[in-house]
Amino acid sequence: MAFIVKKKIHDKDYFYLNENKRIDGKVKTKTLAYLGKTKKDAEKRMHEFLENLDKQKSKEDMNKNVQKTYKIMKDLEKAEISVEDLAAFCKRKGFVYQSGEIYGGLAGFWDFGPLGVEMKNNIKKEWWKFHVIERKDIVGIDGSIITSPKTWEASGHVDSFSDLFVICKKCKRPSKIDKNEVVRAKCDLCGGDYNLAAAKEFKLMFETTVGESGKAFLRPETAQLIFTNFKAVYDNSRLKLPCGIAQIGKSFRNEIAPRDFLFRSREFEQMEIEYFINSDEGSCPYKIPDAEILVYSREAQKKNTEPVKMKISEALKKGLIKKDWHAYWLATEFLWFVGLGANPDNFRVRQHASEELSHYSSDTWDFEYKFPFGWKELEGIADRGNYDLSQHEKSSQKDLKIFDEKTKKKILPSVICEPSLGVERAFLVFMFDSYFYDKERENVVLKLHPKLSPIKAAIFPIVKTNEKIVKISDDIYNDLKKDFHVVYDEGGSVGRRYSRNDEIGTPFCITIDGESLKNKDITIRDRDTKKQIRVKISNLKEILQKLINKEIKFEKAGKIFYNKIQENN
Ligand code: GAP
Repeated sequence: MAFIVKKKIHDKDYFYLNENKRIDGKVKTKTLAYLGKTKKDAEKRMHEFLENLDKQKSKEDMNKNVQKTYKIMKDLEKAEISVEDLAAFCKRKGFVYQSGEIYGGLAGFWDFGPLGVEMKNNIKKEWWKFHVIERKDIVGIDGSIITSPKTWEASGHVDSFSDLFVICKKCKRPSKIDKNEVVRAKCDLCGGDYNLAAAKEFKLMFETTVGESGKAFLRPETAQLIFTNFKAVYDNSRLKLPCGIAQIGKSFRNEIAPRDFLFRSREFEQMEIEYFINSDEGSCPYKIPDAEILVYSREAQKKNTEPVKMKISEALKKGLIKKDWHAYWLATEFLWFVGLGANPDNFRVRQHASEELSHYSSDTWDFEYKFPFGWKELEGIADRGNYDLSQHEKSSQKDLKIFDEKTKKKILPSVICEPSLGVERAFLVFMFDSYFYDKERENVVLKLHPKLSPIKAAIFPIVKTNEKIVKISDDIYNDLKKDFHVVYDEGGSVGRRYSRNDEIGTPFCITIDGESLKNKDITIRDRDTKKQIRVKISNLKEILQKLINKEIKFEKAGKIFYNKIQENN
C-alpha cells in the first residue's frame, strides 16, 4: 500500500510516495516517487503515478519508471540552495548570525559564530600562505582602520566615493548603482529601468570623530594603507620590483542597499595585494598558470554575445586580455579558489566596460561567480597605474619614489594589478560549492576542503562507559588538539555523531573501539565517501596532516574496512 510522507529539508517541505513491503519477515519502507512541495501537488501526482504504474505492463517500463524516480531524487540532492536557505543554515549551525539580532539586528552587519570564525580564519590563513608566505616577491602589512583623513582626500574617496540611490520604475524596489554603471544598470529583481531623474548621490564612507573634534573616516578599502606605507615597506623589506604588498583587514562602506546575506554588507574584510612594477619594464617574468575559464571581454559584452571558455593564456594570445600581468593574476587567483575545492564551472572573468572603470583604473577584470542570485563580482583585479602613489606624493609633499635596482633609476612604480577579494564573498563561494544534500544519509554534507573545515576531526569513543576506551580517546584528543582543531564527541549513537559532523563539514571522524585496546589502532571515516580505514594510533597525527593537505588518497592512508553497523546506528 502506497502512502504520502512529508520530509523537512533545509526548513522546506518535500512530499514523497512511500510503500511498505514485508521482506524476509521484516517491514521495509521504499520511496516510490518524489511528489512535489505542497500537499495538493502531492495528492495529484500520487494519483497520476499510481495510474501510470497500473498502465505499465512490461518489466522494462517498470525499470524506466524506477530510474525516473531515482533521477528526480538525485536532482533533489544537487538542488542549488538560495542565499536565504544558506543564511538559515549558517545561523542554525553557528556559522553566521545577524549582528544585534536580539534588538532586531542592523542591516548590513553580521557576526561570525563558533564555526564561522574558524572557517573565516582558515580562508584568511590559506590566502596569506598562498599569496605571502609561499612567495618571495610579496610581503604583508596590517594597517589601521582609521588613518589620517588626508589619505582619503588624496585618494579621491572624499570627493568621489559615492553611489547613486535609485528606484526601479517598474517594481519600485530601491537600489544602489555604481556611478559608472548608470548606462547599463537594470533592476536586479525585475530587469526594469531605474528612475535616473530622481537618483540621489550617497556618500559611502562612514565618518567618525577622533578626540574632541577631529573628523575621520573608517577605511572603505585596505589598499590606501599599502600606498601610504609603500616607501617604508619597500625599504625595510629590501624588496625589488616587480613586487607586492598584501593586507587582510576590515573595510567599511555605508552601502545604500545591503543585501544577499554576506554578499553586500556594510562591514566586511578584504584581502588585497598591490602589485608594483616599473612600467617601463612591463613584461611578466612568471609562467601563466594553466587555467581554463569563461572569458567575457568588453567587446563580447558590447555585442551581447556569450562568454567563451578558453585558457587564460589563449585569451592573452588572442588579445582579449591585453597585458600578461593581468593574465597571470587572473589565472593565479582562479587556481587559489579551485585548489581549495571551489567548482571551476561557477567562475568567469569579465572585463569592465570603459564607462564602468573606476577613476584610477585603465583596465579592470572582475572575477565573477555564479551566485544563486546571478553572476556577480567576487574579486576585482584592477590596473591602477601610479595614480595612488602620485596622488599621495602630491598631497603629502613627500618623495615616494624608490630606487629601481634593475634600471638604476629613481622611479614611482605602477600598480599593474590589484587583486582585491572580500573574505565574506569567498566564504559564500566555498559554502555554496560544498553544500550537498545526501538522500541516503538524509542530511546535509558540507564537502568543504579539509583545509577550510572549521573542525578537522571528531573523536568518538564508541562507548562512553568503557574506561579503557575513554582513556585512549582522551589521550588521542589531547595529543591531536595541540596541532589541529579537533572535537571530542561522545553524545548519541555513532551514526548520529557522523551526521552531526557531516553537516558542519568535519572531514574525518575517528572512532576508538574495543579493537583499539588490542591492536592500538583506530578507525578514520571519510566524510565524503563514508569509507573507513584502520590506522595505528602512533601514525595518526602524520596521516591526519597528510589527509588534510590532500597529500595522500584516503584509501591509501590505511587498511580499508567497512563497518555498516556504525553508519546506521
Ligand atoms: N581596493 C579596491 C577595491 O576595494 P572593490 O571592487 O570596491 O575594490 C574589492 O572591492 C572587493 O571587496 C570586491 O570584489 C568584494 O569581494 C569586496 N567587497 C566590496 N564591497 C563589499 C561589500 N559591501 N560587502 C562585501 N564585500 C565587498
